[in-house]
Amino acid sequence: MYPMDEKARIMQLRDELHQHNYRYYVENSPVISDQEFDFLMHELQALEAKHPELFDANSPTQRVGSDLNNEFETVVHTRPMLSLGNTYNRQEVADFWKRVSDGLMGAPFQICCELKFDGLSISLHYEDGCLTRAVTRGDGTQGDDVTANVRTIRSIPLQLPKGGDWPGQFEIRGEILMPWASFERLNAEREQAGEPLFANPRNAASGTLKSKNSSTVAQRGLDAYLYYLLGDGIPGDGHYQNLEAAARWGFQVSKSMTLADTLDDVFAFIDYWDKERRNLPVATDGVVLKVNSLAQQKSLGMTAKSPRWAIAYKFQAEQAETTLRQVVFQVGRTGAVTPVANMDPVQLAGTQVRRATLHNADVMASLDLHYGDHVLVEKGGEIIPKIVGKAEADNSKFKIQK
Ligand code: IVH
Repeated sequence: MYPMDEKARIMQLRDELHQHNYRYYVENSPVISDQEFDFLMHELQALEAKHPELFDANSPTQRVGSDLNNEFETVVHTRPMLSLGNTYNRQEVADFWKRVSDGLMGAPFQICCELKFDGLSISLHYEDGCLTRAVTRGDGTQGDDVTANVRTIRSIPLQLPKGGDWPGQFEIRGEILMPWASFERLNAEREQAGEPLFANPRNAASGTLKSKNSSTVAQRGLDAYLYYLLGDGIPGDGHYQNLEAAARWGFQVSKSMTLADTLDDVFAFIDYWDKERRNLPVATDGVVLKVNSLAQQKSLGMTAKSPRWAIAYKFQAEQAETTLRQVVFQVGRTGAVTPVANMDPVQLAGTQVRRATLHNADVMASLDLHYGDHVLVEKGGEIIPKIVGKAEADNSKFKIQK
């Protein structure tokens, strides 16, 4: 083969592997076997080794990361990364609907309902279809440049398919997550190695993304959902429609996203996902409601901290009632003592629970617990359930002792 042919072959292999990668990690419908994929990848690796002058940080071969130490550079966000106001009940959701309606002087509007993914937010920048920069939220004004680590996340496109209608420059934001399966595998490995466990997938994702070594990131099975497209040349006025375009360009956009015309549609979405989220491969902690029209978003504007056109509704942590049998004291690796409750087994958030943390002696004392008490156990963002209080004897109402 002549060198020119090899250059063309490198380009062709890169394009093909980007497409197979998308089919595998975003669409979940590969068209070639893993073995064929590895075969193409090895061919590309060999050719790239022969032609270092053709190095490309966005080549599919770069997904494996490197052992170089990452020094994170602090980058100022092009547009600040805001957080959202939180609501915890239906009345507050109805209040949001009313505020939007009043703010738009009664004009019709739609609300885009989305899941609130429980990971860490990321801002991705693309130029001419190539991933150029990935920045963490940081303090909202500036964050860490974690591009090398983000390149290893298979569901994030490094290079968009040629000829797509994507703008020359844009930013897309989303959430980096560690799926439950990766999280459980990682904690099992850490337990074997006597290393401290991650409390939940969010902490694990965040610890991983800040890893100094991108090959560690590559092995940990992170995933990403994108939920916000920004920039001058983005397709249209509809947030939902823009995300549909992003999905066509190769980004992983949640299929659960829905447009609501009425407050009842919003409640139906909340009720459905409050239950159904247990069957998702990743952690969610609520829903996010956004005014769909970008023009209407602009006219609503923002408060000092967060937009007036969007709000988060947090799901209630799941609770169950059982009987406290015994308290034992666990000594951690650092010497810290944690009281742990043994209880009658009870079903909670899909698993059988028989142990719960009581955190520390102060928390334990304030709960005033006795063996045989009916207790209320909660599983929130943390993997280890906790006792949040006593259940009243008549079982009809729970009284939480603070
Ligand atoms: S939109 C201005 N959509 O929740 C709107 N955020 O405090 C910006 N999050 O920092 C965010 N799922 O990390 C949006 N579907 C979703 C989300 C989502 C999770 C996180 C995000 C943000 C926080 C809101």
